[in-house]
Amino acid sequence: MSGEVRQFGALRTLLPYLAAHRGRLSLAFLLVVTVVVIETAQPYLIKEAIDRYIAVAHPDGAAVLWMSGVYLITVLFAFGLTYWQEIILQHTGLVTVREIRTNLFIHLQQLSLRYFDQNSAGRIITNVVNDTESLTSFFSQFLSITVRGILSLALIMIFMLRLNVTVALYCFILIPIIALISVYFRIKLRVIYNQIRNRLSSAISFLAENLSGMAVIQIFHQEAKQQRKFDERNLSLRTATIDENRMTLLLNSTTELLGDFGVAALVWFGGRAVLHGAITFGVLFAFIGYIRRFFQPINMITQQLNVLQTTIIATERIARTMQVTPEIEEHAGSTAPKIRGQVRFEAVSLAYLPGQPVLTTINLTIQPGSKTGFVGASGAGKSSLLNLVARFYDATEGAVLIDGTDVRQWPLEALRHTVGIVQQDVTLFSGTIIDNVRFFRTDISEERVREACRLVGAEPFILRLANGYEAVLSERGSTLSAGERQLLSFARVLVFDPRILILDEATASLDSRTEAVVQEAIHRVSQGRTLLVIAHRLSTVREMDTIVVLDKGRIVEAGTHAELIQQQGHYQYLHRSGSMLEEDEG
Ligand SMILES: Nc1ncnc2c1ncn2[C@@H]1O[C@H](COP(=O)(O)OP(=O)(O)OP(=O)(O)O)[C@@H](O)[C@H]1O
Ligand SMILES: [Mg+2]
Repeated sequence: MSGEVRQFGALRTLLPYLAAHRGRLSLAFLLVVTVVVIETAQPYLIKEAIDRYIAVAHPDGAAVLWMSGVYLITVLFAFGLTYWQEIILQHTGLVTVREIRTNLFIHLQQLSLRYFDQNSAGRIITNVVNDTESLTSFFSQFLSITVRGILSLALIMIFMLRLNVTVALYCFILIPIIALISVYFRIKLRVIYNQIRNRLSSAISFLAENLSGMAVIQIFHQEAKQQRKFDERNLSLRTATIDENRMTLLLNSTTELLGDFGVAALVWFGGRAVLHGAITFGVLFAFIGYIRRFFQPINMITQQLNVLQTTIIATERIARTMQVTPEIEEHAGSTAPKIRGQVRFEAVSLAYLPGQPVLTTINLTIQPGSKTGFVGASGAGKSSLLNLVARFYDATEGAVLIDGTDVRQWPLEALRHTVGIVQQDVTLFSGTIIDNVRFFRTDISEERVREACRLVGAEPFILRLANGYEAVLSERGSTLSAGERQLLSFARVLVFDPRILILDEATASLDSRTEAVVQEAIHRVSQGRTLLVIAHRLSTVREMDTIVVLDKGRIVEAGTHAELIQQQGHYQYLHRSGSMLEEDEG
């Protein structure tokens, strides 16, 4: 991963989003300023009412009524403007978070499979869902509340000083005290927030892993144990959340309490000052109003320090994901001309982890339209080798060429059209059979889907399903048999009509009838294409023009079935030892 994003630097990633909404943000800012001015003027209004019309020798009822009216109007006005401003900012926050989330997803889709090997699904999910979510408060709260807090505090101080300098200065003593207490609590809270975040992420990771491995858990009767593990994670999450609530509660009541002390002190000292005639009753009343409002902004500002901290952490994580460059870099260029379908490996080596080669100096040329089988023990590197052709990964050394052009020079789009791959584990998505075969591409007609299914022999089982082609598959197609899933993935490949077809045969054994159907399907889909098959079945291997034997990441033998049997080498050993699935007896 390149370059660490440091602290505030991370916030820079948010600038473009802020800039995009500068109109709304400016309006919100204007509203905030107006509201603050109106609200801070309120105690002053009451002071005026008291000193001019109430606490005087000849109280003026009409004027008092008039002043109350003005006060009421300011309250309603402030209420309306605040509401408007909140709506604007909430909206901006949500829109922006949606944009960031979409951008993240778009970016994730471009990353090489290596990234997904190294980062757990849970971590990625937390990144896309939670980290972005925590940015909402930055947009909807941080900016307005910080401005509001600072501005109110400044205005209140000015009003207080204007009312009475001595009393004001006494009141200001409270500022550092409140600030210190507040900061102390916020630091504690920050630690707890981080804990909550990490524990939530761990619980989500655990859940994601368990959902995808439910069958295994049930087979090995690990439900109770997994439940205990999940419970532990839940418990630690709960503990942290309780801590957070307790801290927040304590902070709020402490500031409340301080406010009450402030009022008590004011009544005591200020009351005596009024009695001595040092200040008017109106001034005392205004001070009581202001001291109550004094705490709010300080509290708000320190609270926003936490929002800022969370935002920095979240943006850092998001920026880190966004900075992962797609390893498989798109090579700009025009679509290749008529593709013949020749595949060549030139001194190809691959290491997923540095220093641990999985493939070593593979040299091999596969003629257009030929059928090549790849055999070898489990872990020999067969899937790894053929994944290079579709550029799921890039070779560490050497090059893979299609029609003489390095796959890295191919436009990805053209490459993905040229190379079709049926993987060992068939991936289906929740949706209908039709959706799954054409992979949600509506430009492919349903008729073409049916045709493909018919050709690979999938139609009989599809028609047996309750809704036929419209049958909705569950997530990952877990309601279908392995053979049925394979047939669907063959049909999927056929629909896309690739020039080069890679089949990574499933090792799970199929019953003899499905086996025969699959065999026939392989035969049919390979017509007129370059076929590369990782074969586990003798019946498949026999059909191949050439068989390549891999062992520990190297090609050890190549030839036809008969030739290889003759050689009495690795192939014959694999054949004899029964690691190749025999055809059905008889
Ligand atoms: N994404 C990956 N990250 C790290 N190592 C990997 C990855 N994929 C495969 N390997 C390792 O590379 C080696 C070759 O794996 P590969 O999947 O190519 O074997 P294979 O010949 O297809 O085996 P099988 O017949 O069991 O499918 C194995 O040792 C495996 O552990
Ligand atoms: Mg494999």
